[in-house]
Amino acid sequence: MKRDLTTMLDLQDDILDILEMAEAMKKKRDMDAQPLKGKVLAMIFEKSSTRTRVSFEVGMIELGGFAVTLNSKDLQMGRGETVADTARVLSRYVDGIMYRAYEHSMVLELAKYATVPVINGLDNFEHPCQIMADLLTVKERFGQFKGIKMAYVGDGNNVCNSLMLGCAMVGMDLACGCPPGYEPDPEVTKRAKAIAKANGCRLSIVESPKEAAEGADIVYTDVWVSMGQEEEQRVREKVFRPYQVNAELLAGAHERAIVMHCLPAHRGMEITDDVIDSERSVVLDQAENRLHAQKAIMVALMG
Ligand code: CP
Ligand code: NVA
Repeated sequence: MKRDLTTMLDLQDDILDILEMAEAMKKKRDMDAQPLKGKVLAMIFEKSSTRTRVSFEVGMIELGGFAVTLNSKDLQMGRGETVADTARVLSRYVDGIMYRAYEHSMVLELAKYATVPVINGLDNFEHPCQIMADLLTVKERFGQFKGIKMAYVGDGNNVCNSLMLGCAMVGMDLACGCPPGYEPDPEVTKRAKAIAKANGCRLSIVESPKEAAEGADIVYTDVWVSMGQEEEQRVREKVFRPYQVNAELLAGAHERAIVMHCLPAHRGMEITDDVIDSERSVVLDQAENRLHAQKAIMVALMG
């Protein structure tokens, strides 16, 4: 049976093994092994991307394979060919499909009809590849997940949904500080809370950014306006203003606290220049770790 990564939940059985593999691949970054020799990954983009596109493409090259980049507008899909037919056809050419979509349902539909593994490269609901890179970054910094507290401050968006599941799955405490009406998805929250409980860690959603960040070892934020929400920009910038990650908010976190952001950042909005450029910031490690985490994911799914 083929294996997909449409949600963090798809990694529930072996998340720690995949992170370990990613760590090993980062340490020994050679091209000798070529576990995906001759394999091809198709990448479909409905939205812009820097990190996802380049890290997947370089990752495939380092694993001995190739990646083909497809802008959805250039595909017949952009003219109305169904996702199901696109999935069936691409499955005859390639060994895996990475899909960055607007709608989560489209990723699920592609996975349903593709006979090769489908990897979610971000949709409106989740961003699992990002969270695997983030967890790898935390592991490098702290050497463990248990007893570490992360605060996520800002929009309860795709990154936040995947983060809740990911933290719960590895046993790390997470407090989300989100404004009313912008909390993460209630079903995902419920599921993540149940996983957290089983793994002996805590997940809380609070309104106050200060309360979320209090004593945190990690303060994580993401944009206030995600791709596809551009028309809400003015309202969102007002609502999220008190949720900016700045020196004042960090003063309440643990003195060793690091700062995370999946990038791209809107400097001066969700995060200030002095914070994102400070020694506490690990945003470039997160970006680099996309490569290593995704290499491990691709080997697990396509190897
Ligand atoms: N973090 C992330 O997914 O970046 P891109 O949008 O540049 O791929
Ligand atoms: N929440 C952001 C993440 C970008 C990587 C978005 O969906 O645009």
